[in-house]
Amino acid sequence: MRWGLLSTARINRRIEEAIAASPLCEVLAVASRDGGRASEYARSHGIPRAHAGYEALLADPDIEAVYVSLPNGLHPEWALRALQAGKHVLCEKPLSARAGEAASLFDAAERAGRLLSEGFMYRHHPQTRRLAELVRGGAIGSPRLIRASFSFPLGDPHDVRLSATLQGGALLDVGCYCVDAARLIAGEPVRVSGWRAIGGDGVDVRFAGTLEHLDGVIAQFDAGIRLAPRQGLEIVGDEASLHVPDPWLCNEPGIELRRGGRAEVIPVPGADPYLLEVEDIATAIRGGLSPLLGRTEAVSQARTIEALREAAETGTPVRIQPAAPPAMI
Ligand SMILES: NC(=O)c1ccc[n+]([C@@H]2O[C@H](COP(=O)([O-])OP(=O)(O)OC[C@H]3O[C@@H](n4cnc5c(N)ncnc54)[C@H](OP(=O)(O)O)[C@@H]3O)[C@@H](O)[C@H]2O)c1
Repeated sequence: MRWGLLSTARINRRIEEAIAASPLCEVLAVASRDGGRASEYARSHGIPRAHAGYEALLADPDIEAVYVSLPNGLHPEWALRALQAGKHVLCEKPLSARAGEAASLFDAAERAGRLLSEGFMYRHHPQTRRLAELVRGGAIGSPRLIRASFSFPLGDPHDVRLSATLQGGALLDVGCYCVDAARLIAGEPVRVSGWRAIGGDGVDVRFAGTLEHLDGVIAQFDAGIRLAPRQGLEIVGDEASLHVPDPWLCNEPGIELRRGGRAEVIPVPGADPYLLEVEDIATAIRGGLSPLLGRTEAVSQARTIEALREAAETGTPVRIQPAAPPAMI
């Protein structure tokens, strides 16, 4: 699978390492808004081709799949343009902050006969899969409460995460992981509430939210981009609880099961989630299969994010209508 990198973003490094480790993939080209930056990046990263401008990379007939690592606000436009140019697309999270837009991107992918996937790399890690298996296998009884957090102290005052125009903010940058995990464990919420503190040029630098599920599961999360570093995920059932200290970056995987005053550590193998992510996509494309994260996941995630933003903006809980089932033909 010949990949092209859309931008010279810092996160590219992880994807480049993953692709270098994969016998299924290679990085063929990188594009930058600035031709000189593209050339210098390609030279220093050992990438064969450099394109001046994103359009030029999309016009390169040898590129099969594009990694969209642009600032959040540019994801929908460039994912669409890549699909229309006949490329498969791995788009960094968040694909979109609006359900309708996310759905229309998958419509475009279907029209083009190309794959589209949202880049939540932690979902590919064995830790996340094991966690979901433990919950589904009854390790904690019935899940009742989920608590999740993700924050870090952003240093650069010019970082794209502080730009409202580029769709920065804590919810879209790191809170989205907490939301995704709550949906993975408890399914789609029926009502959400949100609170935010504004900073930067008008983004939510802190966000706290609650997701209520039909069967009574309540998920609470908080996220921040100008806070001390924190991450954690706790799933509390009516019999026991599961604790994951490093749920998103997965650098030190491990799950703790606490039951009746005793704690058991459930070992999880180390793995590079970015490698598993690019191989999932390459395998799906080559085999005509569905990737781990496809339309249903991305559209439902966008629907929840959209509702949380509305709840925080209006100060009122927002009900989420379940997605309409597909029309019977
Ligand atoms: N999955 C993960 O683990 C993970 C981790 C970090 C970030 N991310 C996601 O990856 C994306 C990129 O994050 P990052 O921190 O790597 O970004 P970054 O280093 O700030 O890079 C963003 C790139 O976008 C391009 N760009 C295009 N228009 C721009 C504009 N108006 N302002 C600034 N840059 C612009 C620039 O490349 P050129 O000028 O060279 O074109 C820039 O290098 C985000 O969506 C973020 O959510 C994911």
